[in-house]
Amino acid sequence: MKKVTAIYPGSFDPPTNGHLDLIERGSHIFDELIVAILRNPDKSPLFSVADRRKMLEELTAGIKNVRVDTFDGLTVDYAANVKAGAVLRGIRALSDYEYELQMALMNRKLRPELETVFMMPAEKYSYLSSRLVREVARLGGDISGLVPEVVAKRLSEKLDPARKFSIRKVKAGKA
Ligand code: PNS
Repeated sequence: MKKVTAIYPGSFDPPTNGHLDLIERGSHIFDELIVAILRNPDKSPLFSVADRRKMLEELTAGIKNVRVDTFDGLTVDYAANVKAGAVLRGIRALSDYEYELQMALMNRKLRPELETVFMMPAEKYSYLSSRLVREVARLGGDISGLVPEVVAKRLSEKLDPARKFSIRKVKAGKA
């Protein structure tokens, strides 16, 4: 039978437990799954692409048919380069659907032979997003259970100095 490689493209800034849940599910249905981090010069991410790659490699090291890569340009072109037959995307709630449908149909227009496969993460992660994790972590909230240990550690290393600095400024009446 033909082997199917899928790509799971995204920003992963930072990777969350929801992403990992989806990677695990995807690894069960595809022969090979490539977690593909978009190198996006238009965004100013919290973590560098190298940092995100390192975290994702560490987190997926135990899953044999998963590898991590980075890409720029169109997702469909990257998929063609790595000979992927499918794009994996997660849908958490109905609100994700419209954007995801638009993207899937545009990708189909650009490369009809590439299928988009939607999977749902575990319900307990249905409200989880990298953007909210960044915000809660930045404001000193508890993110345990939302991101893997290694990500929580990297977040606190990254955000703690900034937080202490801004608290000092507030106390000194400068902000
Ligand atoms: O994790 P994200 O930010 O929701 O991922 C979005 C991503 C990377 C999948 C999307 O922005 C993308 O595919 N970008 C690459 C450029 C591209 O192909 N654009 C056309 C998409 S229809």
